[in-house]
Amino acid sequence: MSVRRMAVRSVVVAVAALLLAGGGFVLWASISTERSMARAIDTHEVDFPVPFPLDPEEVSQEGLTEEEARAVALERAQARGRHLVEARYACAECHGSDYGGGVMVDAFPIGRLLGPNLTRGEGGITGGYTVADWDRIVRHGVRPDGRPAIMPSEDFLLMSDQELSDIIAYLESVPPVDNEVPPSRLGPLGRVLVARGEIVFSADLIGPHDTPHPVLPPPAEVSVEFGRHLAGVCTGCHGMQLTGGRIAGGDPSWVPAADLTPSGLDGWDYADFRLAMLENRRPDGSEIREPMTFVSPFAQNMTEVEMQALWVYLQSLPSSSME
Ligand code: HEC
Ligand code: HEC
Repeated sequence: MSVRRMAVRSVVVAVAALLLAGGGFVLWASISTERSMARAIDTHEVDFPVPFPLDPEEVSQEGLTEEEARAVALERAQARGRHLVEARYACAECHGSDYGGGVMVDAFPIGRLLGPNLTRGEGGITGGYTVADWDRIVRHGVRPDGRPAIMPSEDFLLMSDQELSDIIAYLESVPPVDNEVPPSRLGPLGRVLVARGEIVFSADLIGPHDTPHPVLPPPAEVSVEFGRHLAGVCTGCHGMQLTGGRIAGGDPSWVPAADLTPSGLDGWDYADFRLAMLENRRPDGSEIREPMTFVSPFAQNMTEVEMQALWVYLQSLPSSSME
């Protein structure tokens, strides 16, 4: 179960456990959780350029100086990075629309989980980050000091080096925001959920932490391969096989995720899919509900090629026998 969806899954169970077992149990849970959060997790140490350089052939064809080539590369990387976060990787969902800090969960007694300030302003925490530090937090769920973070990094597992490099280039360019974000804290119930294994740190879901990442994403074209790459961020809710079902750990008020395989989207065509993604409406006019509605603001920034690649990939999946 991912931390993002920890919201209230076993609240009832955990509250019952709290009541039955009383203070000793909470103390045990608290100590066990402290220990788990204080662990150091080893990861590989990657390196890649920010920005990714231009193709040498282009540089020589255009007769660019080294400095000009870098400036062009940086400008392109920032534009790509902006698209990646605005259409696909959704960092703003928890780090704020200006990346100056935001909220993931603020619900006592679960906890107060805040997305830190990612800008260069006061209170920004990434000023001293190396490329390896970025890799650790985004693709491994591990902070620079080695402790597990409470951020759903498993959503970003398929991210290539170039995409992460582009995101870094973009985030370094956004206007600085002065905002001190207090550290995230788990409340008593959050601690119990961690101790009971109901909340699993991304760093423990992802692993081993030395698997090499792809250097480049698949080419941006209407292909099953590119669609599969894009659908990495759908699996957190729709399941690894995209067959849908209850969202593990989701808020109890959330409806189950839909089956996205051809049997689930039986009778749909591309136009139906596009409309569903952009306007939360099914072909029969019925409304698609929360939490899918969190996705459409990002889907609205997708390119036509990305939307079509997703569709082509979903249509290539084996039909599920569910339902
Ligand atoms: C669903 C919510 C969510 C999303 C989406 C998300 N983050 Fe986070 N992020 C968090 C939270 C919460 C923390 C604080 C973690 C903690 O204190 O354990 C965090 C921490 C961080 C940190 C600081 C780690 C440290 O302690 O030094 C960085 C850097 C970061 N996120 C980058 C990103 C980037 C880049 C993206 C998009 C690719 C992203 N995050 C997407 C919730 C999120
Ligand atoms: C935060 C969780 C979440 C994420 C992330 C998510 N979905 Fe959904 N999605 C849902 C839920 C829940 C439903 C069912 C809504 C309902 O029944 O009203 C749904 C419904 C849909 C539907 C409508 C299908 C139908 O038959 O009703 C489509 C299409 C869809 N999602 C595509 C996607 C794609 C593609 C992605 C990734 C780009 C994605 N979703 C990411 C939770 C999510």
